[in-house]
Amino acid sequence: MSSLETSFAGAKRRICLDFGTAFSKASAFVEIEGPAREAVHALAIGAAAGADHPLLTPSVMFVDQGRILFGPRALERARACVAVERDPILSFKLILAARDIEQALNLKVRPSVDPTGTLRYRDALVLYLAYLDQLILAAIHRDETLPQDLLGAPRRYTSPIWRTRAEGDRAMARLFDEAAIVSARLGSMLLASDGASIAQCKDALDKAQQALGIGQLEAGVFEAHAAAAAYGAFSRNARDFMLVIDMGAGTTDIAGFALKPGAQGPVLAEVAGARQSCGLAGDEIDQIISSLLIEKFKLKHREDQAVLWRSLGLSARGLKRDLFLNGKCSFLHAGASRSLQLKELLRSRRFKEFCAALTAACAISMRALHTNAFGQGNERLSILLAGGGANLSFLRDVAADAAGQAGVRAQADIEIFGENWYLPNGFDPNLANAFPQVAIALGGALATLTDEPMAAEPATS
Ligand SMILES: Nc1ncnc2c1ncn2[C@@H]1O[C@H](COP(=O)(O)OP(=O)(O)OP(=O)(O)O)[C@@H](O)[C@H]1O
Ligand SMILES: [Mg+2]
Repeated sequence: MSSLETSFAGAKRRICLDFGTAFSKASAFVEIEGPAREAVHALAIGAAAGADHPLLTPSVMFVDQGRILFGPRALERARACVAVERDPILSFKLILAARDIEQALNLKVRPSVDPTGTLRYRDALVLYLAYLDQLILAAIHRDETLPQDLLGAPRRYTSPIWRTRAEGDRAMARLFDEAAIVSARLGSMLLASDGASIAQCKDALDKAQQALGIGQLEAGVFEAHAAAAAYGAFSRNARDFMLVIDMGAGTTDIAGFALKPGAQGPVLAEVAGARQSCGLAGDEIDQIISSLLIEKFKLKHREDQAVLWRSLGLSARGLKRDLFLNGKCSFLHAGASRSLQLKELLRSRRFKEFCAALTAACAISMRALHTNAFGQGNERLSILLAGGGANLSFLRDVAADAAGQAGVRAQADIEIFGENWYLPNGFDPNLANAFPQVAIALGGALATLTDEPMAAEPATS
């Protein structure tokens, strides 16, 4: 087991970024006397970006007509360009997950993303981090309760990928430093509704690459540890054993923890064998929904199907939300509308296979937690659903079935992250349904990291 606790050791202030596959989130930690939960603030980067949700901004970049657009504007422009074989960059996670991160970062992005052939993945990531830096600056300016010099605070980022501090953070540290320089040079141009010119971006990137680092990055935090730190800080009655199932868009991350006595109060210790990261997450469901809708359009020509597929890809998250909220979603394409019922999704072969595979993965972690930590007495286990997937009703059934498979159904309570918990300082109660998503950034700012590099490699399925 590696220990993990929530404390104020280290920096007195810090900013934590969670650049998730679907949405980026950010939080600020400001040292105070008092409980940990009052020291972190969710930053309204979504509001600064003009996104639908004040705390979430879509993780998207789009290159168009010599300019680079970011966030909601990039998504809008990508939607307008579906017919011309152009794609946005929707995720950096695959790049960051590569075995050789330096090599992956040096690859050129695909021509369908950058027809000018200018950008490597590292350029795109630096620019995206610089954009987030500008959003954070704007969010801090808008929030009078925050100290205005927070922007210079050390940075953390959350990651589902387990790397040793030396390898992963060295590459990321350089990118964060370059992003700070690019952000300072391009300033609010990065937030302009028509984006920034590629020539100016390239110039700023070149200057940043030549500059010395300022050492802004403090650390990467494993996402499950961030989730556990959030649990420790915000839960009203923390259980002795818990399993976090964080379903995002790109990955579902699972980890188990046990509450142990520590010198300064209880600490959450990770149960090593319970950790997994798998691709059975929101994007996979989006693909299933898209393919069910594509079948309904019955398009004959491959080119038409490709345009429809691209168009559905940019709308699938909204369709999935409608489907689970209203039991139905509709999509309009080339003047024709097609609907899909939730029951059609739930009955489809691919969705059933998806649920079965996810249930089996969760059961493996529950068994590991059972074998290594709890189950000796009358303890109870909390299964905590985090990430945007916590909004999807079927995930509760998956967790319950997995507990059944692992033989722990009778001891398990299934909770959605944040339900009946304390809310962070200044957190609008109307936004409480975003807590399972924002919690990773909040916990990442709070987590103590001393033992992370000692932990075992995660099982990846
Ligand atoms: N209300 C909702 N109804 C249905 N799905 C939702 C809802 N809110 C979020 N999601 C889904 O949750 C996912 C986004 O969750 P989250 O923000 O936790 O992911 P992420 O952090 O961007 O991804 P990852 O952690 O995999 O990189 C998307 O697939 C999104 O469609
Ligand atoms: Mg996430």
